[in-house]
Amino acid sequence: MRVRITDSAEQAGQLIADDIAARLTDGSVRVLGVATGASPLPIYRSLAARGVGYPGVELVALDEYVGTGSDDPRSFSAYVAARIARPLQIPVERTHVPSGDGRDPDAAAAEFERLIERIGPVDLQILGVGTNGHIGFNEPGSDRASVTRVVELSDRTRHDNAPYFAGGAVPARAITQGIDTIMRARSLVVIATGAAKAPVVAAMLAGVVTSDVPATFLTEHPDLTVVVDPLAAGSLPPA
Ligand code: F6R
Repeated sequence: MRVRITDSAEQAGQLIADDIAARLTDGSVRVLGVATGASPLPIYRSLAARGVGYPGVELVALDEYVGTGSDDPRSFSAYVAARIARPLQIPVERTHVPSGDGRDPDAAAAEFERLIERIGPVDLQILGVGTNGHIGFNEPGSDRASVTRVVELSDRTRHDNAPYFAGGAVPARAITQGIDTIMRARSLVVIATGAAKAPVVAAMLAGVVTSDVPATFLTEHPDLTVVVDPLAAGSLPPA
C-alpha cells in the first residue's frame, strides 16, 4: 500500500489523473472503474482539462441509486456521462452504470456483475470513501465476499448525500458493486479529502480489517494507493 499526502485536494486529483492518463495512453488501463461523489471531481477535472479522448476505454461505475433513471440529473449515470464519459470522449456503449430505473433492481445488479465478469477485470478502480467507511455503497457490516447487489443505504449515507437531493428524499436503496467485486480490480486508488474524512482515513489505515469499516478491506489489496489532502490526513499518527 502507498499513502500519499498532497498539498491540496486539487493536487491529489492531479496526481491521480497523471497516473491514469499515462496508463490510458500506454494501454495498461483498458477498463477504468469510476466512483462518483465530490472526492474524485478533481481527478475528472484534471483529465478533462487535457483535452485528450479515450474512445476505446470501457468505463465501469461502482453504483447507482434505485429509483433514479439515467435521465434524472441526480443519478450517477448522469454524473458519469457529464463529468467523465463526454469529456473523455468515451461512447455510450462503453459507459456502464447499473440501471437505476427501479424496474427489477435485483436483476439489474446480477446483470452488472455479469458485465464486469465479461468485460473485466477492471484495470484501475477509483474509489472515494464514506464518512462511515463505506466503499461503493457497501455500508458497515458488508461481507468481504459480497458481489453486486441491492443494498439499503444507512441513515448516515442518506444524510451525507442529502445536498444532492435538495428538497427531495435521498433514495433508500442502491445497487452497488460488492466488496469482492471491487477487490478483483487489478489496482485501486482511493481519494479522500477534507476534514470530515479524517476519522475514516485514520480508521482505514489503523491496521485492523473489519466489516464495521468496509474501507479497511481495501488494505488487503496487493496494489492499493491512498491519496489524501492535509485535512483528510489530520488524524493520522505522525510519520
Ligand atoms: C460513489 C461511491 C461512494 C462515495 C462516497 C464518498 O460512487 O461509491 O462510496 O465515494 O460516498 O462520497 P464523497 O466523495 O461525495 O464524499
